Amino acid sequence: MSTPQPAGPGAPPDPPPGILARDLHRSFGTVRAVAGVDLTVRRGSVTALVGPNGSGKTTLLLILAGLLAPDHGSVLVAGADPGSSATARSRVGWMPDAFGTWDSLTAVEVLTTMAGAYRLPAGQGRARAWELLRTVHLDDLAAAPAHTLSRGQKQRLGMARALINSPEVLLLDEPASGLDPRSRIEMRSLLRGLAAAGTTVLISSHVLAELDEMVDDAVFLSRGRTVSSEQLRVGVTERRWRLRTLDGPALQRWASAARVTLHPDTDAPDGAGSVLVDLTDDAAAAALLAAAVGAGVPVVSLAPVSGRLEQAYLSLDTERR
Ligand SMILES: Nc1ncnc2c1ncn2[C@@H]1O[C@H](COP(=O)(O)OP(=O)(O)OP(=O)(O)O)[C@@H](O)[C@H]1O
Ligand SMILES: [Mg+2]
Repeated sequence: MSTPQPAGPGAPPDPPPGILARDLHRSFGTVRAVAGVDLTVRRGSVTALVGPNGSGKTTLLLILAGLLAPDHGSVLVAGADPGSSATARSRVGWMPDAFGTWDSLTAVEVLTTMAGAYRLPAGQGRARAWELLRTVHLDDLAAAPAHTLSRGQKQRLGMARALINSPEVLLLDEPASGLDPRSRIEMRSLLRGLAAAGTTVLISSHVLAELDEMVDDAVFLSRGRTVSSEQLRVGVTERRWRLRTLDGPALQRWASAARVTLHPDTDAPDGAGSVLVDLTDDAAAAALLAAAVGAGVPVVSLAPVSGRLEQAYLSLDTERR
């Protein structure tokens, strides 16, 4: 029987990150689309890539997919440089923000063609194509020409296409735009399932509330630079919570006795029954709730005012361009 060894010089090194980019730069003429990006994405995580319009997200993703060469800097994706290694590119799945020019092919042909490009044997490619069509609920539309699909259906086909080679690293540019609510929920659980199986997922989106529920980490871009990287699930940051009660005066009496600072909630429709309170973390929220309820205050709800991502994003000095 083996005994656990203390970590030390002989301990195995940490697994390499899924994506590692250092000092990336890329200009288009005079526009510095990517102007100093440093990025580390943990293997098996879902990481949000967030930034205003024109901040360089798509340009960065294209570089990471090996589809655009950086002017300067280094990239390792699943351990290799996607710009110079076909092996590295074969480990990457890429979903662009708009579906490409596959107009003459049917949905299933889009996937089998892509499987062929990755040199999957024909039978295996067909099986994988059908498996993915079922995953994204497009098997009924397998024979439909891709250009006749609706916007959301095209997005789902794009997701299937990105997964055809069972990638180690999945790069998604605005994958949820155009998806209906059920498809969004399914995408979320699909991505969490892939991450749990070891896939590294980097996903750009402007819908922060939606990302909030699915991502482990976030990387923020502004004007082509990484301005912040956060491990959201382990981060401890004070944020504002909304507390609603059936009895505003009772809440105020308890708060002043317990020395809890309450702020007026100017956005609330029910005025006095709703207040705001700043709390350091979930444990502080649980303690506050237990104390208020224990003192007989009829609490209806206690919930963060904004998501973690939204709060982190708004606190950054980002600019649109
Ligand atoms: N092929 C190109 N030729 C010239 N300029 C480009 C090209 N691609 C991107 N740019 C410019 O580079 C900057 C970054 O663009 P990019 O598409 O990477 O931004 P983004 O963060 O993806 O924006 P959005 O949120 O609108 O998708 C923009 O100012 C854009 O105009
Ligand atoms: Mg973009």
